[in-house]
Amino acid sequence: MTVPVAEFFPSPLLADPFLAAIDPLRSPLAIDPFLSASTTAELIERLERRLTLLGAAVALVVEGLLLYAVWRFRDNDDPAPTETNHFLELAWMIATVAILAAVGLAAANALAHPALTGGAGVGVDESSADSGGTSGDDHGPGSDDLEVIVEAERFEFSFTYAGETVRTRDELVLPADRTVFLTVTSADVLHSFHVPDLGIKRMAIPGEENTVRTTPTEPGEYRGYCAEYCGHGHSEMRFTVRVVERDEFEAWLEERRG
Ligand code: CUA
Repeated sequence: MTVPVAEFFPSPLLADPFLAAIDPLRSPLAIDPFLSASTTAELIERLERRLTLLGAAVALVVEGLLLYAVWRFRDNDDPAPTETNHFLELAWMIATVAILAAVGLAAANALAHPALTGGAGVGVDESSADSGGTSGDDHGPGSDDLEVIVEAERFEFSFTYAGETVRTRDELVLPADRTVFLTVTSADVLHSFHVPDLGIKRMAIPGEENTVRTTPTEPGEYRGYCAEYCGHGHSEMRFTVRVVERDEFEAWLEERRG
């Protein structure tokens, strides 16, 4: 799902000119706001789309009623005070409850999802975002899943592949379409591990481990950086996430083992 923004439009006839128009604006940006290159990012995008559509519908109804009232009661020289209308009061109360419930459910479904909590999913619909791979369960990595320990230290990130002798700095290589558990920690002060295009952001806290689970879906190179001010080298604390096909990943790992 490279360009989910297209889903806002009922037809590609409308979406394509819009995307073509904004294209020159996209490349100079460090990150692509319309890219979702992992199941986690897709989950966040989907929530945002749902809330935007809901907000747009509410705005249309409210503005529509307002315009109608302006038109309907124009030139009224003898305005009468509004009378109590129980039906109307009940209607807008129920509508408000329904809207808030929809927003709450949509948000809870995304926020409680293992792709955002890092594992401990609490009874949410697993199929609502394809987790990919073959995760053992919601509480930890399965046999086919990849585990990487992300350690932040002033001023760089290092990545240790669990069960391997492989450790890299400033570059995290991940296979596409395979579930990965990233365990984020820090050796000194507070940092934050942030990869916008993959929808991942986790605090790196000394003595603590924060796990985030995701499945990269689009091969490519993504920028990552520290998102918590940690000292004079904070702005230098950048890294690259390179998502490659599975066999390429195996070859890369094999080469690093040797
Ligand atoms: Cu590490 Cu900012």
